[in-house]
Amino acid sequence: MKEFINKIIAGDSIELLNKIPANSIDVTFADPPFNLKKKYSSYYDKLEMQEYVDWCEEWISEMVRVTKPSGSIFIHNIPKWLTYYSSILNKYSTFRHWISWDAPTAPMGKSLQPSHYGILYYVKDINQTKFYELRYPHKRSRKSGYLLKDYGGKKQLLHPFGPLVSDVWADIHRIKHNKYRDEHPCQLPIHLLERLILMSTDESDIILDPFMGTGTTAIAAKRLGRNYIGFEIDPNYVSNAKNKLLYEKPISKIGEYWVSFFLNNIVSLRNIDWDGLSKFYSLPNDNRDIDHTQIEFIDKKKILKHFEFVLNGNGKSKQNSPLLEICDSA
Ligand SMILES: C[S@@+](CC[C@H](N)C(=O)[O-])C[C@H]1O[C@@H](n2cnc3c(N)ncnc32)[C@H](O)[C@@H]1O
Repeated sequence: MKEFINKIIAGDSIELLNKIPANSIDVTFADPPFNLKKKYSSYYDKLEMQEYVDWCEEWISEMVRVTKPSGSIFIHNIPKWLTYYSSILNKYSTFRHWISWDAPTAPMGKSLQPSHYGILYYVKDINQTKFYELRYPHKRSRKSGYLLKDYGGKKQLLHPFGPLVSDVWADIHRIKHNKYRDEHPCQLPIHLLERLILMSTDESDIILDPFMGTGTTAIAAKRLGRNYIGFEIDPNYVSNAKNKLLYEKPISKIGEYWVSFFLNNIVSLRNIDWDGLSKFYSLPNDNRDIDHTQIEFIDKKKILKHFEFVLNGNGKSKQNSPLLEICDSA
């Protein structure tokens, strides 16, 4: 196992998964080719339907085999393929959630406009599984700053940071600007992976992604102080991901609490960490003020000073890096 830890290895996912011992990985996450004729540089993304489903069953059963009894299995795809994946996963593991990631996709002709991707969330043993409730920031009107949701007479009960994360994720956007993308047709946002990792793992756990692409899962894992194993068939994608990882550090935390950042805000935190994290915020005396005013860090300047964009090798600014670790201001 040691030879795989914190490595991205060029090769076929099934062959490489075969080399991983059973019950050794905390979380397996896959974002496989969608079989939609996407333009990958060394992979033909259009198999016959049954051929594709049979191939998926091979790597899905391997993912379950290598996952620990306390571990989770996540698979991202369009709903069509997830229906097939579910019937495969139901044989080997236990359904937990279908996470709907609200993100518009390409029109498909005579159909409803597809507007979400799914992330299947299965666990190996429901009695041993690790799970942490998460919170995300309240949604507000850009103009007025007021909460979009009307809490009526319950404003006093508002959580200062934001609601618990549900199985519909509408607050994480696809990477829209080319300047934030690599040369890859389907790069996921880092904070999407960070949310999954915060929800299902502890520090130093191992996350395996058999279709690593641009390295998103590995970057999220590294920023959050976890270990990763990645497989990717395309040697160019492998070297791009490895280069990016050289600049990453396990620094996405405030005090002793791992958090996920995007732009200047925390976008996911663990509910159990709120007591500790709240000490970094200036909280209103009257909870009802949260209705119109977002809470701010006490030492915003100091915290944001540590915030920087990651520059990759060719000088393009990419998805933003998290804040550096802030240990001494609680
Ligand atoms: C949907 S993309 C993953 C994108 C990734 N989540 C990201 O954020 O960059 C699927 C990846 O699987 C890779 N791939 C296709 N067949 C493979 C195989 N048999 N073994 C390993 N990787 C494979 C493709 O080259 C592609 O990079």
